[in-house]
Amino acid sequence: MRHLLSIADLTRDDVERILETAEALQDVDEKLPALRGKLVLSLFFESSTRTSSSFELAAKRLSADVMSLKAAGSSVDKGESLKDTVLTLAQYDPQAIVVRHPQIGAPLLVARHSNAAVVNAGDGKHQHPTQALLDLFTMRQALGVLDGRHVAIVGDVLHSRVARSLIQALALVGANTTLVGPPTLLPRGIEAMGCETASEIGAIAAADVVYVLRMQRERMESAFVPSLREYAARWGVTPERVRPGQKVMHPGPINRGVEIDGRVADSTDSLILEQVRAGLAVRMAVLHDLLASDSPVRERAAVA
Ligand code: NCD
Repeated sequence: MRHLLSIADLTRDDVERILETAEALQDVDEKLPALRGKLVLSLFFESSTRTSSSFELAAKRLSADVMSLKAAGSSVDKGESLKDTVLTLAQYDPQAIVVRHPQIGAPLLVARHSNAAVVNAGDGKHQHPTQALLDLFTMRQALGVLDGRHVAIVGDVLHSRVARSLIQALALVGANTTLVGPPTLLPRGIEAMGCETASEIGAIAAADVVYVLRMQRERMESAFVPSLREYAARWGVTPERVRPGQKVMHPGPINRGVEIDGRVADSTDSLILEQVRAGLAVRMAVLHDLLASDSPVRERAAVA
C-alpha cells in the first residue's frame, strides 16, 4: 500500500493487517517513536471535527511532526490551485499528506504532484476509506466476526462517500448490506456494488447494525425530500424502530431529530462514540502501515 485513496485499492489481507495493527495500538497510552523525524501534512479543504483531529493526534502519538492547513485562512482563499498548494508544501518533504477536498479525485492529484504517501480523508461524494476501516473496527469489537453479519445503511446514500467506502469494505469482509432510504437518495444501479436496497424503514429490522447517514445538504443542488420533517417521520431512526441489542452507528456529525433520534444516539446500543475512539487507533495504524520503516508494506516494497 503506497497510498490509501479508496477501499477498492485494498485486499482483504490489507484490511486485516490494518485492523490488527489498530487493535495492538488502541490500548497504548504512551507516545511511540515509530514515525520520529517524519512529517505528516494535513490538508483540509472541507469542514471536519473527527477526521482532522484524529489524524493529527494519531500522527503525534507516533512521534511524527504534524503540519495542518485548512482552506480558510490559507492562500486557497486567494485563489491558489490545489496543484500549486501541493507543489509549494511538497518543498518541506512530507512523508505523508492527508487530504480532504470537495472535489472527487483531489487526493489522486495530490499523489501525482508529490512523493508523499497520500491518505484520502474524504473527496466529495466519492470515498472516505479510513472512515470505513474504523467502522469495521468498531463493528468487529462489538460483534466479533463480521462474515455473514447484516448491516443496514440508512439515509442519504446518494451524496455519501462514507456509504460508498463502507459498502465496499463490508463486502470485502463478507458482511451483507442493505441500503434503506427514499428512492431519490439511493443511487440508481448501486446494487452492482454488492448490496440490496429498500425504501421502507421497516427493512432495518433484520440488521445487526443500523448505520445512519447524515443528510448531506451541502451537496444537494435541489430538494431530494419534501422536507426534513417528513424525512424524519418516514426514515428517522427512532427508539420505536430499533430493537434492544441492535447496534446503531453514525459517522458524525449527527443531526438529532432529523436522521437520528437523540434517545437512540445516546442509548447503550449506540456505538457512535466508540467510532470516534476507533478513529484514533485506525488512523495510527494506517499511518504506521504507510510510513513506519518496519511496516510489512515497506518490507514488501523493498523486496520488490
Ligand atoms: C463524514 C464526512 O465528512 O464524510 N463525517 C466524518 O468524516 N466523520 C460524514 C458526514 O459529514 O456526514
